[in-house]
Amino acid sequence: MQNTEIQQLLEWYITAGVEEIVGDSPFAFMKEEKQVLPIAQIRLAKAEPIVNENRQATTVLAQAMQNACQSAREICAQAQSLSELKEKLSQFDGCSLKLTATNMVFGEGNEHAKIMFIGEAPGADEDRIGRPFVGKSGQLLDKMIEAMGLKREDCYITNVLSWRPPGNRTPTDGEVAVCLPFLKRQIELISPEYIFLLGASAANALLNIPDSISKLRGHWLEYETESKQKIKTLASFHPAYLLRNTGQKAKAWSDMLRLKSKMEEK
Ligand code: URA
Repeated sequence: MQNTEIQQLLEWYITAGVEEIVGDSPFAFMKEEKQVLPIAQIRLAKAEPIVNENRQATTVLAQAMQNACQSAREICAQAQSLSELKEKLSQFDGCSLKLTATNMVFGEGNEHAKIMFIGEAPGADEDRIGRPFVGKSGQLLDKMIEAMGLKREDCYITNVLSWRPPGNRTPTDGEVAVCLPFLKRQIELISPEYIFLLGASAANALLNIPDSISKLRGHWLEYETESKQKIKTLASFHPAYLLRNTGQKAKAWSDMLRLKSKMEEK
């Protein structure tokens, strides 16, 4: 294979979500079995070159990831409206989740919303319908919104990722990094007064803090946009988690009340 072909193949892997090389050495599956050396022998025979090859491949993967993130940031900076951003996202090929998803799920709701709800990624229902939070989690989110004295149509609802990870698996760091500029641009364009983060994934991604949701919830946080706007932010349990752990609903309720009373202060 030529170097450019190898590079293209590696870039394809990274857009497909591959972030680590787990084998000790590449080998030809199609060759006769007797030609395939046992792993231990490969290690002994080729220790130096394998380390170097892996290092080279990892560097190429990391570079491809950086390029995709850079291209996402540049595209987002150009978008002057939500519809333009949505259009640009639909043309963006830097996230491999697009290949397995049925529909792109962009944010929806009031473009002048005071409050933005942000989840992790579309689930099966959202992927099928192409709208955020329309499945069981969405039904609970609707109830939470109503309990705060709000209407869904007055809010803006979105996710960190715009495509469903296959089988609802946890998104990789690379997938989050590539999609984050699109979320950040949505926030910038909506310019809400409040952000309510649903679950640890959304909170960790947006605030760039690795803490658990139990640690992050229960007090006011702050998100600062690229244009230095400071937005009052709360993090709480994801509705899907609350459906499985009903005992935590009381804590979520107190987070909702915290937001409600802050919004009513004005
Ligand atoms: N879970 C999410 O985080 N987002 C959705 O849109 C649906 C389920």
